[in-house]
Amino acid sequence: MKIVKVKDYEEMSQYAADYLIKKINEIDCPVLGLATGSTPEGMYEKLIQANKEGKISFKNITTFNLDEYVGLSEEDPNSYHFFMKDKLLNHVDIQEGNYHIPDGNKIDLEKECQNYEKLIQEAGRIDIQILGVGVNGHIGFNEPGTPFTSRTHIVELSESTRQANSRFFNSIDEVPTKAITMGIETIMESKDIMLLVSGEQKAETLARLLEGEVSEDFPVSVLKKHNHVTLVADEAALSKT
Ligand code: GLP
Repeated sequence: MKIVKVKDYEEMSQYAADYLIKKINEIDCPVLGLATGSTPEGMYEKLIQANKEGKISFKNITTFNLDEYVGLSEEDPNSYHFFMKDKLLNHVDIQEGNYHIPDGNKIDLEKECQNYEKLIQEAGRIDIQILGVGVNGHIGFNEPGTPFTSRTHIVELSESTRQANSRFFNSIDEVPTKAITMGIETIMESKDIMLLVSGEQKAETLARLLEGEVSEDFPVSVLKKHNHVTLVADEAALSKT
């Protein structure tokens, strides 16, 4: 794992955006794996800016998001559909039909998981996957204990994840109990992965990643088995290593 130490959130976002812009411009019809959460927001702002300035085009880009809550409508400000449109997709020249987010409102969720997985396989590869990490080590919504062999599936969210994400909702009761997530094996098949970590609240998580063992009890640790991961972390996140 290549470790890039940056000063703060701003530097992390700039590094991540520059890395992506370079990649996008090198590859024909890039396929990007995208993440939600507070961590990549700054990077998305910079990508929008770069698109406005003509430094990148999204016209030939296909994207796949990692996950979505079950039971929130696309118009719900807490849905990842809403987040992605609001933070990136509505502001760049991406083509309708080229971005993909699991649909957590399908009646047959199992089928939706299979279809989503199929779409990724049909795209052939994810050239670069952006990841954040939950305090308990989850990636996407793959909670501790998820098999490393998992593919896109439905998850029961842990209490700690619901608690952490309740900051975006009026109360914890409104936080969905389930989600659809790309599986760990699906994520690991990405050619290149960039993990972004910022802030003191992630410092213990990051110390465990860097110093601890690879274990299904700590999903992010699987990245140590991937041969092309860049960890971009700020000083606060690295303060306990
Ligand atoms: C959510 C998302 C993850 C994200 C995590 C951390 O649970 N499903 O993909 O990495 O939150 O979020 P944040 O970046 O807000 O700390």
